[in-house]
Amino acid sequence: MKQDLIDYAARLPKAELHLHIEGSLEPEMLFALARRNKVDIPFKSVEDVRAAYAFSNLQDFLDIYYQGMSVLRTEEDFFDLTMAYLNRVRADNVRHVEIFFDPQGHTERGVPFGTAISGVLTALSLSKAQFGVTSKLIMCFLRHLSEEDAFATLKEADPWLDRIDGVGLDSSEVGHPPSKFERVFAAARERGLKLVAHAGEEGPPAYVYEALDLLKIDRLDHGNRSLEDAALVERLKTEAMTLTVCPLSNLKLCVVGDMAAHPLKRMLDLGLKATVNSDDPAYFGGYVMDNFRAVIEALDLAKDDIRTLAKNSFEGAFLSDGEKRAQLAAIEAVLI
Ligand code: HPA
Ligand code: ZN
Repeated sequence: MKQDLIDYAARLPKAELHLHIEGSLEPEMLFALARRNKVDIPFKSVEDVRAAYAFSNLQDFLDIYYQGMSVLRTEEDFFDLTMAYLNRVRADNVRHVEIFFDPQGHTERGVPFGTAISGVLTALSLSKAQFGVTSKLIMCFLRHLSEEDAFATLKEADPWLDRIDGVGLDSSEVGHPPSKFERVFAAARERGLKLVAHAGEEGPPAYVYEALDLLKIDRLDHGNRSLEDAALVERLKTEAMTLTVCPLSNLKLCVVGDMAAHPLKRMLDLGLKATVNSDDPAYFGGYVMDNFRAVIEALDLAKDDIRTLAKNSFEGAFLSDGEKRAQLAAIEAVLI
């Protein structure tokens, strides 16, 4: 029975809306790039690396995530990283991806903005040409860094704005509320960029209100803690705000104690537009279908819920109405 639902989820066309491309760096590629670029890493083997992926909170993970990035040096590295992710998601029938990248994680190590973004963009266009997988690119600001740093990054992005679709906000949430970036997001909005922000992963509902009211986001990343505030839930529902939920990430970062307690089903029952995403698949134990499998096994999701999750992923995407209609029709065409 559960297996039927998993098979159904696997057959549905899906979009992934919450994916940090640097978080798709698998241990095998970490080693290969460390060797290629002669970068020292504090691990002896792939097993050693996987053993280090035990986190008790977001910061634990971020420390290892930034360390992992240090092997990414050349345009080819960013191309290989992105291509590996795009090849992997095709197996899960993911037809559209909206990818985050963290330019400040690279420029602060002396890797030029253009090196990182060029490698990512080349892979994205190749994937579209070869396999028809469409994409959007979202540049995230690291919220533990200053407003001034974020403005400098927005300036560096200027020559690339025709190939960047939106900006986001990630890294250490608590202590770095959305209000810190109100002016940067206003500047991004003036440039016609879409706006998203991580909020309510570890931070309180007040941070979600700030993301809505001050940043004026088009989509909410995570948003789990919104459920603590009934008025906020009502507002997210009224505004039909898409939430990019990441179940395995929530488990690994101890946002939930166990998958059976995950709020995904509750979110759907409350009428929230939740989606299923992998966040940092190399670190959290899997890609989109691994996330679907985990929630289907742990929660009481009906077939309608699975279809709603797939539909929400396209409805919440930054695609044109025509593109959305085509993807939604393809979902309806999957009957069993
Ligand atoms: N939360 C915040 N920042 C991040 C994450 C996340 O889950 N992944 C990569 N950067
Ligand atoms: Zn994230």
